[in-house]
Amino acid sequence: MPGDKSISHRSLILGALSVGETRITGLLEGQDVLDTGKAMQAFGAQVERLAEGEWVVNGVGVGGFAEPEDVIDCGNAGTGVRLIMGAMATSPIAATFTGDASLRSRPMGRITDPLALFGADAVGREGGRLPLTLVGAKNPLPVRYATPMPSAQVKSAVLLAGLNAPGETVVVEQEATRDHTERMLAGFGAEISTEITDEGRVITLKGQPELTGQSIAVPRDPSSAAFPVAAALLVEGSDVLVPGIGQNPTRNGIFTTLVEMGADIRFENERLEGGEPVADLRVRFGPLHGVEVPPERAPSMIDEYPILAVVAAAASGPTVMQGIKELRVKESDRIDAMARGLEACGVKIEEGEDFLIVHGMGKIPGGATCKTHLDHRIAMSFMCLGMATEKPVKIDDAGPIETSFPDFIPLMERLGASFRSDNN
Ligand code: S3P
Repeated sequence: MPGDKSISHRSLILGALSVGETRITGLLEGQDVLDTGKAMQAFGAQVERLAEGEWVVNGVGVGGFAEPEDVIDCGNAGTGVRLIMGAMATSPIAATFTGDASLRSRPMGRITDPLALFGADAVGREGGRLPLTLVGAKNPLPVRYATPMPSAQVKSAVLLAGLNAPGETVVVEQEATRDHTERMLAGFGAEISTEITDEGRVITLKGQPELTGQSIAVPRDPSSAAFPVAAALLVEGSDVLVPGIGQNPTRNGIFTTLVEMGADIRFENERLEGGEPVADLRVRFGPLHGVEVPPERAPSMIDEYPILAVVAAAASGPTVMQGIKELRVKESDRIDAMARGLEACGVKIEEGEDFLIVHGMGKIPGGATCKTHLDHRIAMSFMCLGMATEKPVKIDDAGPIETSFPDFIPLMERLGASFRSDNN
């Protein structure tokens, strides 16, 4: 499995904000992360690829970002652009950000609003959309910010901005979202603590630390692993081993849910790698039943609802997914994209602003073309659906898969899947 996308972005950004050398192994070489690497070079860091997955970053230190000469193009990557905006917001420089059609349609006000509290100014299109120019604060103030939605990107942008502000920056979140930024900031030498209080999770960062370069072994991405795991659960006779997969509790909700559906998943050889819990996953095909996914689990599996919807279609009975309105502002509107594609393949669904119900039917007709809307996870989800349908499933664009899982097709072929491209 490829390296974790969230940790890969953060490795490059924190490496660029550190003094000295950061050595990274297992970096995801998907387009999203490569775009973040290029951006870090544009802000003055040295970023070099030594071998496959092996990269070295020579950072400029907290507050050391130089003003980029040109527009920063973050491609498809919401995490890339949002974290980088945070990282530059408290330096006296300006930068203009853009991305592909998907990224240009996504809301950025959720980032520029808290960054304005530090003293940064943003001018973007309607709704704060990209292209957007951010002018960093000359005399940044520390900030206390309660995130209005469960979002690790918002939390991380505020913490990264807080690095170059004096005093303490505090983020309060109601629900736990992925905590890689907190773990990694501590690893690079920042003073950061998390307290669970009546208000929620209170994360306190002491500003203006000296971060020092680190060696980082990026664990393998649970969000990518979810696809071959799901494929094994969908295809009769499967028995698949997926080794070294990150099991951070803020990320592993999909596996909890699949086990509740009756999935035969064993977590073998549990260990710590690069400060993150990992395990080898042994997955065997077997009958599955629908479940109600508790809404409070959503942040720990926010990227896995599309593939869960596919597994749910092949299970018996309904699977109810609630409290998922954040899915509407991902790389695509994922509730709509999954609902339309599943319906086209003959699956009965019910959908609302913040819920999706998939009525499992065992045998799925398939035979439709599903639209992927520049969204890698929608593309891979419908490819996995096609492994279980009576007639093949077609997607209109496999290009986005490159952003997070460049080897998806050859890897699934090695497991026995068969793909055909109209372009060949
Ligand atoms: C991510 C946070 C999540 C997730 C995204 C990666 C991160 O986004 O969907 O794929 O690395 O911080 P939100 O913060 O918008 O929930």
